[in-house]
Amino acid sequence: MVNIKSVRESNLAFKLSGHASGLVAVFVGATSGIGKGTLKQFAKYAQAPKVYILGRSKKAAHPLLDELQASNPQSKFEFIETEISLMKNVDLACDQIKANEKKVDILFTSPGYLSFDSRKESVEGMDIPHALRYYTRLRFAYNLIPLLLESPNPRVVSILAGGQESEIDINDLEVRNDFSFIKAAKNGTTQTTLAFEELAKSYPSISFLHKYPGFVNTGVIARLLSTAPGIFYYPAALASFLVLPILNLFSTSEDEAGERGLFLVTSARYPPAKPKTEFVGVEVQGIPVATASVVKDGQGNGVYRLTSDDESAPESPVLPGYRLDHVDKTVWEETVAAWDRALEKST
Ligand SMILES: NC(=O)c1ccc[n+]([C@@H]2O[C@H](COP(=O)([O-])OP(=O)(O)OC[C@H]3O[C@@H](n4cnc5c(N)ncnc54)[C@H](OP(=O)(O)O)[C@@H]3O)[C@@H](O)[C@H]2O)c1
Repeated sequence: MVNIKSVRESNLAFKLSGHASGLVAVFVGATSGIGKGTLKQFAKYAQAPKVYILGRSKKAAHPLLDELQASNPQSKFEFIETEISLMKNVDLACDQIKANEKKVDILFTSPGYLSFDSRKESVEGMDIPHALRYYTRLRFAYNLIPLLLESPNPRVVSILAGGQESEIDINDLEVRNDFSFIKAAKNGTTQTTLAFEELAKSYPSISFLHKYPGFVNTGVIARLLSTAPGIFYYPAALASFLVLPILNLFSTSEDEAGERGLFLVTSARYPPAKPKTEFVGVEVQGIPVATASVVKDGQGNGVYRLTSDDESAPESPVLPGYRLDHVDKTVWEETVAAWDRALEKST
């Protein structure tokens, strides 16, 4: 466990280090919640960064953009207004970033929402929440790899459910049959870790972090309860008014989740498999290197499955077998195929 005091110590050490300047970061899903908390901390501690923020409404993001600029006048914040559940839009946004930047140091992804609704297809044929939790995030990572490889210490983060991987139906990764949001969420979780492991084999200078944030008070549960169908609507509404305020007392705040987000992208705790340079993040005494998801002959693979307190999650009951059966490769190939199908449908 990394306690919040150590996280703050590390973040301060980052601010005072020579490595806080000139970073280029891409935040996907940071107009609210954990991403927003992390973006605010990043703006507070980094020196003169260039930051791309992806979201659906620049107008709605104006107060946030003003706050960020005021907290760090030397920074450049560029808002890309787009609907990122569409792979076509992800590609266009990445093209824009590639046209303007020579490197990307940080890709922080946390878009999405939970809903009891049935499958909700985009015009590209993907379930929208499933795209946001997995296909969109991985497409950003994949598209930006040429720029990430130019960074001395690149990091990709997905805030989802690291450590909670479970059995998945590899013949229905897009959850076209017997859809439930639980099945989709389970698929997205296991797919994320396996796809990160596959990418880390080809790009060992990049660290890939898949984190479960715990219960963070972002309104995510209230929004989920508001989608309860039929007769479940009333008990869900009651829970929202009576139980949720009590549960929220035990939740992590957006600010604290943001402090942990900044720690993830700046600490030496999460080195890649093959660092390009000696610097792999800010070192603070008492914060050891985390255990990677696969360690062979003492060498980690640069992928981290993390719990809410930024500890490496215990090995999953399913992942060792999946790795032996090359399900990681299958998941990756199916991901590419799903992207291709989506892009074919897009207008
Ligand atoms: N909060 C928790 O307690 C918790 C616990 C476990 C796991 N998680 C997971 O962690 C991630 C982040 O959670 P959070 O609570 O920070 O999320 P959040 O604040 O509810 O949402 C994050 C972002 O998702 C984007 N988004 C929502 N609907 C969208 C849509 N239809 N199309 C495109 N973008 C959309 C929003 O961007 P725009 O509206 O600007 O486009 C928003 O900035 C999620 O995947 C969540 O499931 C959260």
